[in-house]
Amino acid sequence: MKALIAAGGHATRLRPITWTRNKHLIPLANRPMLAHVIDKVIDAGITEIFVNVNPGEGDSMRGALGDGSDKGVRIVYIEQKGGARGIAHAVANAEEYLKGDSFIFFLGDNILLGGIRHMREKFEREHLDCLIALARVKDPQRFGVPELDGDGRVVRMFEKPANPPSPFAVTGIYFFSPEYFEAFKTAKPSARGEYEIMDVINWYIEYRKVGSQEITGWWKDTGTPDALIEGNALIMDDMPRETYCIQCTPHEEAQIQGPVSIAEGTTINADCMIRGPVTIGKNCQIESSYIGPYTSIGDEVKIKDTEVEHSIVLNGAVIDTTRRIVNSLIGVNAQLVDCRRSHPKTGHRLVIGDNSFVEL
Ligand code: DAU
Repeated sequence: MKALIAAGGHATRLRPITWTRNKHLIPLANRPMLAHVIDKVIDAGITEIFVNVNPGEGDSMRGALGDGSDKGVRIVYIEQKGGARGIAHAVANAEEYLKGDSFIFFLGDNILLGGIRHMREKFEREHLDCLIALARVKDPQRFGVPELDGDGRVVRMFEKPANPPSPFAVTGIYFFSPEYFEAFKTAKPSARGEYEIMDVINWYIEYRKVGSQEITGWWKDTGTPDALIEGNALIMDDMPRETYCIQCTPHEEAQIQGPVSIAEGTTINADCMIRGPVTIGKNCQIESSYIGPYTSIGDEVKIKDTEVEHSIVLNGAVIDTTRRIVNSLIGVNAQLVDCRRSHPKTGHRLVIGDNSFVEL
């Protein structure tokens, strides 16, 4: 069995962060989102992994994530011809790499607790042609949704239906037989101009054996800033305690509580409190600040006189403000500072990129 991971697309809901980087490289617990997905696929025993990327992004994605040789697997990056034309198209685009084998198709913006090995085992044990992973959600209309019969069997699939026929979302984890490419020939672009995976799955429901597996632990589609920040927290909660480690020497009077990782070269002065779970990257300066639970801070970040909690701060950012920063996503090299001018006395001075969100 092989695996294809989808890591293309526009990620408009994460702009402006995604103007300058592919969303799948946004770090969660200080590792690219996609690295967590690759881990899940490797844990399921897959050694041939393909990653679908946008045209022109193959080299940068390879540079960020590597070719898998350090983990004993092969990772190949495939550019999606014509760009993001739908996730069903992303698979069809990889036909020459996948044909002849069953494969896992994993959407690179999905994160979940635990592994997917049991799903692979079910797919193989029950000789299924297609297996979909489902999760119970409160807003199924935002996702693909299955219609189930009285025995819980999937009878039809709908993409983001206004009136969902069940409380389940189809998560971004699918298993397919090699007949995928035959099924894809029947798919046509939808009203939003994309080749929808639902059309392919409906073909499988009609002509082949389809099964489903409910994910009962947490599962997240990290498509929005809020979901991303929550995903960051969930991943930190899921990290074994022994993987947290401090590789620098914080001032002996600094208070460090709970699971905290701090990389080399970072300085933490006496007047700091860091309450985990927290991850802090290399060469940061943390001064007279409180870093609260579920915060991930990248490399070369400066934080002074600030309280930051439940947030993701990317490389090179500067936060020097007496305000309390919560539930925030702070971009690369962004600066967040208190006003030090005497005139005018009130008012905020802002240089905000397109599609930014600021709550004052
Ligand atoms: O997350 C689960 C949902 O994912 C499912 O419930 C839906 O049925 C499925 O269609 C999908 O919906 P989204 O609206 O979330 O799909 P999105 O366009 O965000 O793309 C999902 C992933 O696939 C994301 O990591 C980007 C990547 N992608 C997307 C497109 C359209 C590609 O690699 N190529 C593409 O052409």
